[in-house]
This record gives sequence, structure tokens and C-alpha cells, in this order.
Amino acid sequence: MKNRSNIKILLLGVFPMLVAISAFAEEPIDADAAVKVARSESCLRCHGISKKKEGPSYKIIAAFYKSNPDAVDVIYEHITTGPKVKLTDGHAEKHKAILDKSPEQIKNLVRWILSQ
Ligand code: HEC
Repeated sequence: MKNRSNIKILLLGVFPMLVAISAFAEEPIDADAAVKVARSESCLRCHGISKKKEGPSYKIIAAFYKSNPDAVDVIYEHITTGPKVKLTDGHAEKHKAILDKSPEQIKNLVRWILSQ
């Protein structure tokens, strides 16, 4: 009897917990891949990691979105649809949109930006 109840505990307790954990665990961020995309898309021309250039630094952006649960989606949309943004000289232009990378590559870049 004792053995059987151990199995029950395993099935009812531990197993669903493992399933839940694996569903929430995210892929680790690949920083090298993120920087490579940011370079090839010339993101770093306008955004420093901690230095303000034409656009805000990624540290500032990460801090701004820190407690926003939709941050990944919002940024993903921003860098794939190219909304109008204001540059430092006051004129507005369409923000750079990434069109030739996979969703996984873009998501990795977004999560890297938010981890700064
Ligand atoms: C020509 C300069 C320029 C380039 C190139 C550029 N950005 Fe931006 N970006 C800006 C400016 C300016 C803003 C600020 C927009 C604002 O505050 O209205 C901005 C804002 C952002 C934001 C914040 C969006 C938000 O909703 O707060 C993110 C994230 C971002 N850029 C990522 C990127 C990525 C990734 C790339 C490369 C694909 C990129 N940027 C390329 C100028 C640029």
C-alpha cells in the first residue's frame, strides 16, 4: 500500500508541477545573437546600451518597461511595424522595422534589450 501511495503522490503532485515549471521556463537569452542582429539592423547606431544617442539607451528602455508585463509584446510590435518616432532634431520618421529575421531571433533581441 505504501508504494502505491508514493506513486500517487508522484502522479498527482510532482508531475503536474514539472509540467507547469517547464511551461513557464523561458529559453535563455542568447546575448551574442541579439547583438549580432542589433548590429546588422543598425539598431546600435541610434541606441547605446547605456549611452543615449539618437534614441534612448537600452538600459533606459529596460528600466521604463521593468514592471510592464506586456513589455515583450509592445517592443516586438515597435521593432517590427516601424511606428513614427521623433528624432532629436525634432523631425519624425518611421522607426526601423526588422523584416528579414525570424520571430525567434527578434524575440531574443527584445528580451536582451529588456535585460539591460
Ligand atoms: C534612426 C535612429 C534609430 C534606429 C536606426 C533605431 N531606433 Fe529605436 N528608437 C529611435 C528613437 C528616436 C526612439 C524613441 C522613440 C520615442 O521615444 O518616441 C526609439 C525607440 C526605440 C525603442 C523603445 C520603444 C518604446 O515603445 O518605448 C526600442 C525598444 C527601440 N527603439 C529598439 C530599436 C531596435 C531593436 C532597432 C534596430 C532594429 C532600432 N531601435 C533602431 C531611433 C532609432
